[in-house]
Amino acid sequence: MKQIILTGDRPTGRLHLGHYVGSLKKRVELQDSGKFDEIYIMIADAQALTDNFENPAKVRENVIEVALDYLACGLDPDKVNIFVQSTVSALTELTFYYTNLVTLSRLQRNPTVKNEIKARGFEKSLPVGFVNYPISQAADITAFKANCVPVGEDQLPMIEQTREIVHSFNSIYDNILVEPEALIPDDISARLPGIDGKAKMSKSLGNCIYLSDSEEEIKQKVMQMYTDPNHLKVSDPGQVEGNVVFTYLDVFAKAEDFPKYLPDFASIDDLKNKYRQGGVGDVTIKLFLNNILQDFLRPIREKRQALSHNIGAVYDALAKGSAVAQQKANETLREVKKAMRLNYFTDDEFKKEIAEKYQ
Ligand code: TRP
Repeated sequence: MKQIILTGDRPTGRLHLGHYVGSLKKRVELQDSGKFDEIYIMIADAQALTDNFENPAKVRENVIEVALDYLACGLDPDKVNIFVQSTVSALTELTFYYTNLVTLSRLQRNPTVKNEIKARGFEKSLPVGFVNYPISQAADITAFKANCVPVGEDQLPMIEQTREIVHSFNSIYDNILVEPEALIPDDISARLPGIDGKAKMSKSLGNCIYLSDSEEEIKQKVMQMYTDPNHLKVSDPGQVEGNVVFTYLDVFAKAEDFPKYLPDFASIDDLKNKYRQGGVGDVTIKLFLNNILQDFLRPIREKRQALSHNIGAVYDALAKGSAVAQQKANETLREVKKAMRLNYFTDDEFKKEIAEKYQ
């Protein structure tokens, strides 16, 4: 079986460190693993409109911002097809046919959608497009015959929904769709808390460090990070658990950072022990983390800046990826319509049958 990946993001804002740790890093590894025959990375503008339909300018603007973030992190348009969802019209057509295979109550049971409905105040008047988006996501995945969908845990209900659609399609019509598997990050370091200590870095919470943040913005955010509220004086014992600076250090600090930036400490364990005992100030650990994050983000930001000065090339890459995606999705749509007996003018057997019946 062909090894095919599809995944994507809604373009509702620039991407941040949480995206990097939770998905972008893994995508670049998968891209370079040589294990996949085709990789599609979708900028889900049509899905973004399901809860931003009144703000198309925001979605449009962020398509290019997300593309810049992708390329700056090392996704390579020569190896992966980065495409814009709305340019692949076969996806909407597939969505329409799949809606027959799903009940409204099934959609309303989706726990991720349930939470999102609450968060967006859609309880009283729920747009059909919004509650329908898991079906459209099934179209995204199946159009490319993707067997592997690298996503965060919150997307598991969408993959489950897709598998159900595939199952009923294949048993009712013909066995042509591929049942996908989710690929979920396996280590907890893939989930980065916000700088305020909230469980998730999220644009709406305003607790993000963006991949495109300037040196000053990064430093300001690090200095503002949530640590241990009871660690008031340097000499006080400090708590490491739940201390955002240490959570980030666990993810980003490398052995060589200690001699370089914090030579009084031998390792992360040494630093943690001494912080617990008392005598290590928050400013010390924050400046250390700042140095590390600056080193990490500088090349990404610089690459992003260089790309943004040649935005025509970025659009060309998206157009190229979109053309490949259109072709693949059209092929699947053709098969789907054939399986559903909707291929009136291309099915010779059907034409013969009709000619005989009505002669
Ligand atoms: N729902 C995903 C998100 O919000 C984006 C997305 C749309 C997606 N279609 C997809 C992800 C298909 C994986 C597969 O991030």
